[in-house]
Amino acid sequence: MCGIVGYIGPRQAAGLLIEGLRRMEYRGYDSSGIAVVNGTGLKIMKSAGKLSALEQQLDGGMPSGTLGIGHTRWATHGAPTTPNAHPHTDQSGHIAVIHNGIIENAGAIRKMLQQRGHTFRSETDTEVLAHLIGELYRGSLEEAVAAALREVDGAYGLAIISEDEPGVLVAARKGSPLLVGVGEDEWFVASDASPLLEHTRSVVYLDDGEMAVLSRDGYRIRTLETAQIEKPVNQIEWDLTTIERGGYAHFMLKEICEQPESLQNTLRGHLLEEEGTSRVSGLNLSDDDLKGIERIVITACGTSWHSALIGEYMLEEMARIPVEVEYASEFRYRNPVIDERTLVIGISQSGETADTLAAIREAKLRGARTVGLVNVVGSTIAREVDGGLYLHAGPEVGVASTKAFTSQVAALALVTLRIARLRDLSILQGREFIHALQALPGQIQEILNRSADVERIAERFTDTTNALYLGRGVNFPAALEGALKMKEISYIHAEGYPAAEMKHGPIALIDENMPVVFIAPHDAVHQKIVSNIEEVKARGGRIIALVNDGDAEIERLADATFTIPTTLDLLSPILTIIPLQLFSYYVAVRRGCNVDQPRNLAKSVTVE
Ligand code: G6P
Repeated sequence: MCGIVGYIGPRQAAGLLIEGLRRMEYRGYDSSGIAVVNGTGLKIMKSAGKLSALEQQLDGGMPSGTLGIGHTRWATHGAPTTPNAHPHTDQSGHIAVIHNGIIENAGAIRKMLQQRGHTFRSETDTEVLAHLIGELYRGSLEEAVAAALREVDGAYGLAIISEDEPGVLVAARKGSPLLVGVGEDEWFVASDASPLLEHTRSVVYLDDGEMAVLSRDGYRIRTLETAQIEKPVNQIEWDLTTIERGGYAHFMLKEICEQPESLQNTLRGHLLEEEGTSRVSGLNLSDDDLKGIERIVITACGTSWHSALIGEYMLEEMARIPVEVEYASEFRYRNPVIDERTLVIGISQSGETADTLAAIREAKLRGARTVGLVNVVGSTIAREVDGGLYLHAGPEVGVASTKAFTSQVAALALVTLRIARLRDLSILQGREFIHALQALPGQIQEILNRSADVERIAERFTDTTNALYLGRGVNFPAALEGALKMKEISYIHAEGYPAAEMKHGPIALIDENMPVVFIAPHDAVHQKIVSNIEEVKARGGRIIALVNDGDAEIERLADATFTIPTTLDLLSPILTIIPLQLFSYYVAVRRGCNVDQPRNLAKSVTVE
């Protein structure tokens, strides 16, 4: 999704902006642009396509100036063309605006401004906002922005400069993340921390309704109405090396391979082996609160929604609490039945997904307790929930989520264990669960050591156009996630199904061209899945199976098998997903796909 970076200080801005945009490429975008102010005016360069297209334009020389803003756009209003790329200017051409989000009443404002003689060069809502700011300009950019924002509905993260005020950068936030980077005699704004890290780790997170006014002497935070408010400066723990590729061909592969460590980091400090339970004080719920929960609703999007489904199996099985999992986009527009005895868990890697945030706000409004399982520290969801656990998986840059998924499942296991121990689960069962959790990082490493075997299987299936992923029980969500990984990065049409459901439709698709991936560890439903494999075999389907060691029965039926170590049934998706992530990665690489930035996808979806 769109990225914002802005700079004011003693250094030349253009190179810093391009570098910053490069660090945000992973978010997904389809055009880019920068604006720089110097003594002679405002210089804007923009281009459709990848950043390299913009850089080609800049080959003739970077525009000089020590104040600037840069943007990567992910099209919402208007096609991903150069005219629609940001920055956009006002009628006078003096003010430049970059914008993440959507201005909902842009149509009405555009009409009003057209009647007053404004002409527009793009189809974007952002240009309308730039014109409105220009229309309201009376000698102070800061006041013009505040006045314009009082007129607009919708969501925005904004950075604005004007050639008439070469010492001022104005930023504002409502519904789209923005932070101020505090350097030494220089200041930044950005929509996430990654472009800031090589310059500073001190940041101020803006909240909705707040503006930042950066000048050459410092910065000030205000609201649309109040001239100044105090905000704490936070320190980011990640450093640059944690977000660099470190020798791997792609971020996705690096992040898949980091899972022994990221999982360990999620579990660290939470396991109380002696008592057979977990410490989850971050939830801000006492044991009595946890005992009083009558229902749990988990809400999320994409991969996070798949981990939520696994959480449903764990919580119902171990804690015996009814759980519902709902897409955040659906939850927010229904009339969900929730009250103060309902716990609503929001799961999000980025902590910025617009639908998940809105669902959590709706749940809070209705009196539910809300907790977040979030990876990005300081993100909006993390700050708005009543409590939660950080995943501590480290920055996830590849658009297709991998290590965040396994950490989300582990975090759900921690929450489950605490609640279960307050109910029926015995201390011995609790300890057994802890031992199984502790073994997972080593078991993942063991799978990763055999990734060449997955690569060899991938070679045989690179040319496929469709694939079916089947699993039962807790590995049904793993099948959904495996299929999602495949379609996201290789563009192969892949679907996940509960294995037994296959005969109610998908079986019609099966022939010798249809690979079917079975997730078949030796669990309670193993025999059932063997029958499903037989059904596919009988129709000539090509079978890839994930099995535990020594599963001669399935090995005999399958065209390719990969063995996974044994763990408790409920935790098995943390292991079964690893070869599936690798499988989609190797297939996509062999198909020549842009694995880290798949077409049309965004890392963090901050619009509805
Ligand atoms: C986007 C990403 C997915 C991700 C989903 C939810 O669609 O491409 O990989 O699973 O958003 O993101 P979140 O940050 O809320 O987990």
